[in-house]
Amino acid sequence: MPKITYIDSTGTVRTIDAEVGSTVMETAIKNDVPGIEAECGGACACATCHVYVDEDWRAVTGDPSPMEEDMLDFGFDVKPNSRLSCQIKVSDALDGLVVRIPERQA
Ligand code: FES
Repeated sequence: MPKITYIDSTGTVRTIDAEVGSTVMETAIKNDVPGIEAECGGACACATCHVYVDEDWRAVTGDPSPMEEDMLDFGFDVKPNSRLSCQIKVSDALDGLVVRIPERQA
């Protein structure tokens, strides 16, 4: 099972086993990771699942789609490595992925 590490804005680190085929958002919600709200349930329609992808992982997770880019405009403190975690599908290639959670969601 791929492991995903979530680091919240206070520096608390949580490393979680993720199911292949789920998303980084679903894994966070299922495991009560604070700071990811996911109000729209993963439809790319709320921007409350915003995370920062660790620089080492940006090439693996890829760039946001145009639709995700549009939604990210509503995110809080968006940066070049911002992604919506509901749009990152878990695969074996993401084993070891590190994402940081913003101080707050939009
Ligand atoms: S859960 Fe709403 S955009 Fe990701």
